[in-house]
Amino acid sequence: MAQEQTLAGKTAYVAGASSGINLGIAKRFKAAGANVVIISRSEDKIAAAAKEVGDGCIGIAADVRDYAAIEASLKRTHEAFGDIDIVLSGAAGNFVAPALGMSANGFKTVVDIDLIGTFNVLRASFEFLRRPGASLISITAGQAERASLYQAHVCAAKAGINMLTKCLALEWGPAGVRVNAISPGPIAETEGMARLAPTDEAEARVKSRNPMRRYGLKDEIADMAIFLSSPQAAYVNGAIIPVDGGSGAGDASGNALMNYAPAYQA
Ligand code: NAP
Ligand code: COA
Repeated sequence: MAQEQTLAGKTAYVAGASSGINLGIAKRFKAAGANVVIISRSEDKIAAAAKEVGDGCIGIAADVRDYAAIEASLKRTHEAFGDIDIVLSGAAGNFVAPALGMSANGFKTVVDIDLIGTFNVLRASFEFLRRPGASLISITAGQAERASLYQAHVCAAKAGINMLTKCLALEWGPAGVRVNAISPGPIAETEGMARLAPTDEAEARVKSRNPMRRYGLKDEIADMAIFLSSPQAAYVNGAIIPVDGGSGAGDASGNALMNYAPAYQA
């Protein structure tokens, strides 16, 4: 069934959309009727992704660490489609490494892409936004709130995104610009989970800890991005919204219960 054209006539800019969750979101924005511009580092990957998104989608090669390149891509979006209604900042990098196995540049690279990159995208977008009315959405992660082994760079960067989201919501709310973040749980068929849970055993362990006992779908993240861009979310601002099957609520594998088992009578 065709998706309702809830974003007809709107313009969406999606950063980090050559693959994965953000490409999934860009496709759904397009299906909902929006003009869509997507950016990522790789010229080839972003051109192929723009074709996948569909007719009229513009793909631009730009690195979120390069403020001038991001500003130029937003300017081009504005020239093509007018005031920008939706900005989604989702570019990220991740690798699994202990802090002692990470150089200063390794740590900085992830903070630069995730946190500074998000600041660059959101800050540079402001002058091109529909004001009032625009919806800005960052993609964060559970690592922002839960310390994770071998993820010091990601935990620090995503925690920064959460606080940046709230600070910008305070500053830009009066201009009619809402700033929120989506915190996906483990999502199927993504580079993120290929890196974090590369074996069947690791995947099974992640699923066993999730109350829903499964990975989420890219479409389930896109559903939240569509909601945050809709009039139904007009009073949602400064929110960090988990779409994680409850993994943020705790570990549902039974390990915690085992700690109490001697005293527990069913
Ligand atoms: P992905 O497919 O690797 O997506 C990352 C995207 O960012 C790619 O399109 C990549 O394209 C782009 N990118 C990387 N560095 C960039 C830079 N410096 N400038 C511009 N674009 C850049 O990974 P994913 O797993 O779908 O993750 C997408 C988002 O969801 C990330 O923010 C991630 O932290 C978050 N997340 C994912 C999960 C999960 O389960 N996968 C869970 C929680 C949160 P190029 O290589 O072409 O630049
Ligand atoms: N363990 C330890 N350090 C690592 C590493 C690893 N697995 N992978 C990269 N690094 C270090 C590099 O050694 C380098 O540090 P150095 O200069 O001191 O040697 C630093 O990180 C930067 O690496 P580089 O390859 O130059 O960075 P890049 O900007 O080309 O790529 C990455 C960024 C490293 C995050 C890369 O993995 C990437 O492009 N990721 C995008 C896709 C992705 O991560 N998707 C999942 C999103 S959740």
